[in-house]
Order: sequence, then C-alpha cells, then structure tokens
Amino acid sequence: MTAETDATGTDQGPVRVDLPDADAARALGAALVGVLRAGDLVILTGDLGAGKTTLTQGLGAALGVRGQVASPTFIVAREHPPVPRPDGSEGPGLVHVDAYRLGGLDELDALDLDASLDDTVTVVEWGRGLAEALTDDRLEIDLERPRGGVVDEDDPGAGTRRATLRGVGPRWAGVDLAALVPS
Ligand SMILES: Nc1ncnc2c1ncn2[C@@H]1O[C@H](COP(=O)(O)OP(=O)(O)O)[C@@H](O)[C@H]1O
Ligand SMILES: [Mg+2]
Repeated sequence: MTAETDATGTDQGPVRVDLPDADAARALGAALVGVLRAGDLVILTGDLGAGKTTLTQGLGAALGVRGQVASPTFIVAREHPPVPRPDGSEGPGLVHVDAYRLGGLDELDALDLDASLDDTVTVVEWGRGLAEALTDDRLEIDLERPRGGVVDEDDPGAGTRRATLRGVGPRWAGVDLAALVPS
C-alpha cells in the first residue's frame, strides 16, 4: 500500500490508500485500532460491494470484539461487545450500523442499544453523498473502485479499491492518519 498526503503535511488528510484486494481492506481496518478509541465515530462511504463491511471485519478482529462482523442488512445496527482481556480490562466494543436503514445519525440514539456509544467505536456504513451534517468529530473513509478498471468476469467484485481517509473535527486534529499506512 502507498499513501500520499496533502502537500502542506499539516492537514489531517486526506490520506489515500490503494487496497489491491479484500485482505488489504481488512488490514486497513485492523490498523485503525492504532488511532480509534471509545466514543469515536467512523463513517464508511461507498457503493454496494465497495468493501465497507470487509474493512469493518478487519477492525472487529483487531479490536477482539465478540461475534462475527457481517453486513448489517435487515437490521439497523449490530453490537459487538468487547471480550475482557486476561488481566480483566476491556477495550471498546463495536457498534456496526447500516445507515441505509437509518434516516439520520440522530436516530441512533433512538435505537436503544445496550452499549453506550461513548463506550464503543461506532462504524456507520453509509451510502454515497449522505455524509454531510453529521457530528463534529468523525473519521471519514471513502471506498471507491477506480473507474476504467478491467472487470474480471469470473469475479466482478474483485479488484483494487481506493480508500480516502479524512479526520473531521477537533478529535482528529493532530492524528497522523498517514502513519496507518504501511510504506
Ligand atoms: N480491494 C478490495 N477491497 C475490499 N473488498 C474487496 C476487494 N476486492 C474484492 N473485494 C470483495 O468485494 C466484496 C466487498 O463486499 P462488502 O465488504 O460487503 O462491501 P460493502 O459493505 O461496501 O457493500 C467482498 O466480497 C470482498 O471480498
Ligand atoms: Mg456492507
């Protein structure tokens, strides 16, 4: 994977990463544990099949939360509680939301989740063009298939995705997203 950042080097993004296959998407999700903490919100934007759930699977595995991260289709949100570490401490749990089924983020509160969003990392899979007017602090990750790529007819979902990471709000000021990307 390769990363390029803004020329100024002071902006918090965007950081771009090429993900040649699904394992690379999972690896990026896993690398996010290096910066995410309880209370954080991650917005994943991209078309169906872009790799939003795949990336979240890598994050869930790296967080070590309970349950299989799967597409939240047919349910609005799935909770993955943390598994206590051998020393009894706990990391954040994961709340995985399908925003296609949600009118807006304010509806998250009304879902009556067991976990408080303050104690979890919340990942929202979002449709394209809907990510405005959200909370002040969020990590936005866009996943796109480069246009003009050759489609493998035996495996039309295969191929490189381009991830663009952008930290929005004071929470993300000074967080070095480029450090997430192996050089
Ligand atoms: N570079 C890649 N990044 C992410 N997923 C990929 C990539 N190449 C192939 N895939 C496959 O594409 C599919 C993406 O599906 P999914 O993660 O459910 O997308 P979404 O949640 O965005 O609808 C998976 O079957 C995954 O294995
Ligand atoms: Mg999905």
